Order: sequence, then structure tokens, then C-alpha cells
Amino acid sequence: MVEVLKVSGLEKRFGGIVVADNIELALVEGRVLGLIGPNGAGKTSFFNLVCGVVKPDAGSIVLNGQEINSLPIRERARMGLARTWQNLRLFQSLSVLDNLMLGPRDYSADNLLNVMLRPGHVAERERDSRDRAFAILERTGLTEIAHSPISDITFGQQKLVGVARALMNDARCLLLDEPMAGVEGQAYALIQRVVRDIAASGVAVCVVEHNVAFIRDLCDEGVFMFAGKVLARGSVESLIADPLLTELYFGT
Ligand SMILES: Nc1ncnc2c1ncn2[C@@H]1O[C@H](COP(=O)(O)OP(=O)(O)OP(=O)(O)O)[C@@H](O)[C@H]1O
Ligand SMILES: [Mg+2]
Repeated sequence: MVEVLKVSGLEKRFGGIVVADNIELALVEGRVLGLIGPNGAGKTSFFNLVCGVVKPDAGSIVLNGQEINSLPIRERARMGLARTWQNLRLFQSLSVLDNLMLGPRDYSADNLLNVMLRPGHVAERERDSRDRAFAILERTGLTEIAHSPISDITFGQQKLVGVARALMNDARCLLLDEPMAGVEGQAYALIQRVVRDIAASGVAVCVVEHNVAFIRDLCDEGVFMFAGKVLARGSVESLIADPLLTELYFGT
């Protein structure tokens, strides 16, 4: 079992709110971990800490064996850390393809000097990016709508575009924040299949979702978070069946 991501002793507070309370968590190559817990438990904050959007107060984050605490967001993405956002963050008037090509990647070679002095190099990079985008669209079942603007496709398809865009940087570790929220119908099975395929290719996946049936059907294992703490880890069935956790989740 290869640990792609390992988080130890992770701590974060916002004033009086504790969003990470000594979190110990590992994500393993080829496996899907479900992260569940009530609103405000700290699930998105966990992703933000791992990606570098938020700085931890303490703790260590190791990606592919290298501590990444002090690395900027972009560098972490370059190392294969990918995520989707709870609110999609897609460009509505641009096509599916363009959204992928504008996704997380290394633009450093596309500076103005290169555009003027090495146009061939820039064109080659663009071709490479386009080829990669089409391969990912194929993998995520989006080829047919490659040229449709985001505003013209269903919400389920938009969610998949979010996942596809995250894959543009050769993800080794993929964090999905509520991939099912607002999605209905056939997108359910499609999103399940895409996430399974991604994991089967060796990516370590973590999924945050309030749709517990989705998590149960998809994940190898689950973690229950509450007030910044990991309270339990085990089969998703066992977490759902735990009356204490159910009470914390629904606040009854
Ligand atoms: N940048 C921030 N500044 C201050 N408080 C924050 C910040 N980010 C998150 N919080 C607070 O931290 C707590 C945890 O938020 P977080 O978004 O991580 O929860 P969550 O588990 O993802 O919830 P949900 O299921 O509703 O998405 C919330 O009370 C939230 O208001
Ligand atoms: Mg959240």
C-alpha cells in the first residue's frame, strides 16, 4: 500500500472555531476514501489545508514522500495534487475544452517573451495541452460536448468537467469536494464510474459528500469528521450504522 498523501498532527483554528484538531490521515494509491461529517465539520478546510489555500497552525503534510507544508498551491499542483471545488469555479461562457485547457497547469513558459520570441514552443505546448484535454474528455465521457459552453450543459456534466479539469495536471492525489451535490439522474452512475476509473489507474482519491449512499457505493473506506476531529475510520457501512455518529450528523 503506497501512501500518496500523509497528514500528521494537522491543526487549524479560525478564532474560536477549530477546523483541524490533530488530524492524522493517509490516502493510499488506487483507493477511494470517503470523508463524511455534518456541515461545518472541517471537510473543505481539510482540502484547503492540504492544497495550500489555508496555512496550518501545526502539523505535517507529505505528498509522494516529500513534505509540502511550505510549498505554494501551484507547486503542490505540479506535484500531482488535484482538487475540485464545492462551488464549481468554471468559466460559464467558455467551452468545456477551454475550461480544461485553462485548468491547473504550468503557464511559466507562456510568458510574453516566449510568445514573441518562441511562438513555435508556445504553439507546441498548446497542442500538447489540447491533446491531453481530449484524452481526459474521453476518459470522463465528455468528448461529445467538448465544444459546448458550460452554460449549455447539465449540472451533472458541469460537475464532471470540474473533475476532468482537476485531472489536467497528471493527478496522483485527487480531492473531490461534494461531486454529487445538486446532481440528479444518470450523472450519478457516470460520476461513480469516472471516479472508480481514476482510482483504478492508481490515483489516491478522497471524496467529501453528504450523499451517504454515493459514498457507500463508491468508497473503500470512510472517515467521520466532527469539529475538526477525525472521530472514526472504517467501512462506510459501519460509520452509517453507528448511532453516536448518526446523532452527531443529524444533531438529533
Ligand atoms: N477562511 C475561514 N475563515 C473563518 N472561518 C472559516 C474559514 N473557512 C471555514 N471556516 C469555518 O470553519 C468551519 C468549517 O468549515 P468547512 O467549510 O471546512 O466545513 P465543511 O465540513 O466543509 O462543511 P459543509 O459540509 O457545509 O461544506 C465552519 O464553521 C466555517 O464557517
Ligand atoms: Mg464543505
